[in-house]
Amino acid sequence: MAATRRVDEHSWALLSDTHLAADQQQVSHGVNMTANFQAATTGVCALKRLPAAALVCGDLAFTLGEPGDYTVVEQLLRPLRTAGLPLHLTLGNHDDRDHFWAALTDAKTAARPLADHQAGLVRSPRANWFILDSLEKTNSTPGLIGEEQRSWLARALDENQDKPALIFAHHNLSLTGDPKSAMKDSDQLLQIIRPRKQVKAYIFGHTHDWGTWEDVSGIHLVNLPPTAYVFTPGRPSGWVQASLERRGIRLELHCLDPRHPQAGQVVDLKWRAA
Ligand SMILES: [Fe+2]
Repeated sequence: MAATRRVDEHSWALLSDTHLAADQQQVSHGVNMTANFQAATTGVCALKRLPAAALVCGDLAFTLGEPGDYTVVEQLLRPLRTAGLPLHLTLGNHDDRDHFWAALTDAKTAARPLADHQAGLVRSPRANWFILDSLEKTNSTPGLIGEEQRSWLARALDENQDKPALIFAHHNLSLTGDPKSAMKDSDQLLQIIRPRKQVKAYIFGHTHDWGTWEDVSGIHLVNLPPTAYVFTPGRPSGWVQASLERRGIRLELHCLDPRHPQAGQVVDLKWRAA
């Protein structure tokens, strides 16, 4: 089956904040996270052309990153694998890195630039994805990229200037200098990405609140919706199909509730000048 499906090499399925629990009947904030995630992966697999890959932006586990949560994560990712989709997963503040690697053995054994973080570089015809791991401490809200990962990012960006660079990490950046529940080293990260003009977008989850805006340097900030629950009633849960264009990206919101007012919303973002 998988071999017969056409793949769109410019299309990417972006998911975040799955919060899958060991108990698949678990409900939080009125939502069954298993059912929501299954609806999302069914939607990804039903696309007319398969995306190049699925990227999942952290908070894979429910709250404490327990081993049983990742058993469910592994199980519920199988439809995407069966469809032939490469998967790229990163971690959030409700994850536990060792438990994640114990269950997702291919993630553990895959070559990665930093031994102790789930980071990586994914190249594609129209952009390079820099996947960062901002898990600092399980079940503690803020995140941290850390010096070693920041050094790798700066070096990898300098070595890969030929295409737009998209940064993909769980935590939102603080633009005010006061990170609170966001990325603790936002300032240091911004100092790396703002002057490197190939960086066009920073894509994240964490807030469970879909939206896009721009920072002062023209980097697009893309806040992915959760597949799990929202914190503010009425906000959309779902996933995003990102289609890379020559000079920008087209984001289509796939709401889990097809009657949601934002269902099918399309956002076209143009890249800042190089
Ligand atoms: Fe989350």
